[in-house]
Amino acid sequence: MYQSPVAFEAPLPPRMFFAEDAAALEQQRVFEATWQMVGLASSIREPGQYLSTDIGRVPVVVRNFDGQLIALKNVCAHRHCSLVVSAHGKSEKLKCPYHGWEYGADGRTRRIPAARNFPDFDRERYKLPAFPLEQCGDLLFVRLIDNGPSLREWLGDLYGRFEKWTSLPYGKHAVTRTISLPVNWKIPIEGSLESYHIPEVHPQTFGEDPGESKSEHSLAKYTTSFFTAFNTPRLIDKLLKVYERFILTILGATFDPSYEHHHVFPNLLISHTSSLTLVQTVRPVTCDTCITEVRQYSRQSLRNNPISRGTAFLWGRFLSALTLKILKEDISIFSHVQRGERAATERSILGRCEERLFAFEKFIDDQIREGSESSAATTAGTRSELCESAWSCTDATCNTEVR
Ligand code: FES
Ligand SMILES: [Fe+2]
Repeated sequence: MYQSPVAFEAPLPPRMFFAEDAAALEQQRVFEATWQMVGLASSIREPGQYLSTDIGRVPVVVRNFDGQLIALKNVCAHRHCSLVVSAHGKSEKLKCPYHGWEYGADGRTRRIPAARNFPDFDRERYKLPAFPLEQCGDLLFVRLIDNGPSLREWLGDLYGRFEKWTSLPYGKHAVTRTISLPVNWKIPIEGSLESYHIPEVHPQTFGEDPGESKSEHSLAKYTTSFFTAFNTPRLIDKLLKVYERFILTILGATFDPSYEHHHVFPNLLISHTSSLTLVQTVRPVTCDTCITEVRQYSRQSLRNNPISRGTAFLWGRFLSALTLKILKEDISIFSHVQRGERAATERSILGRCEERLFAFEKFIDDQIREGSESSAATTAGTRSELCESAWSCTDATCNTEVR
């Protein structure tokens, strides 16, 4: 069942989907203030391996220093060159490619070539800033600020689920897809927060919207979730379920018909069935471009024989092809939404089934206002005429609820 008895006017105005000043505020107040899933521990398990990404406006490198994972600002203290330039790699030292300064796990410089050029050098002053880094299963999270909820608090009840699904013996990372999209980052996020679009966008793959009676929504402080055990009447779906049950039996695993989809604010999406877990992030690049990374964890065989292991591998490959097809179906609609946002004069209307979008937009809106309410409202135009919440609004003049 859905939780809200009413429909909503969207908390965010259309310009939040294309305006440059709004995107800049989001980088600062949303991305630079929240836990960000930056990559996989399994991808940097060897000493010297690293990954790099941007959190908001800040380049970050996460590196394995002799078994210890450390997140540092990826900007050389000398003349600000990037310390690592690829998304993944391995190097003996964390060494700047420009003049060769080297850095240790504490962010302080180690070897500086021709160091006599820098008399009385202050190593403390010119050390790389380090950031909080936490791990849940295989997933690595970094936050640029020290203060705030721990990752466990941020993920709440979902922590244990994510830990199990992304760790052996349950699941193993199988494939990562990185896709650039010509749309604001919130459009792909919102496209996954409701099943209302399924009949139009996924008629051949998902087929039908499970509807309210077979949907369960949960709305927490930093996350929202959708649960269903939907069984379509289509023969092909019934056959697939029989097939999936058979495959999982070969793996020594138990079939469960339920599907879960979780959104961790602001930009992490995790969907799960008994066969696979998909971990997706969407990162803004500009106000109307973004990059999404979809990582698939495939269910592993609990039986240690070649047939079971081979079956697990092939089943993972099949599901990977299927999920790519579904992803492409979703992507096909995004640019049309982006185009419409630029021309829209009214806020969107969100149905009861879209209450997870409302919770997401409200989170973004709250983050943007936080700390500097008046300037945020003036600069981004996000809040000046908005209600606090459609669920709790007591302003008689407000039209946020739409019955
Ligand atoms: S900019 Fe890094 S060593 Fe000069
Ligand atoms: Fe979809």
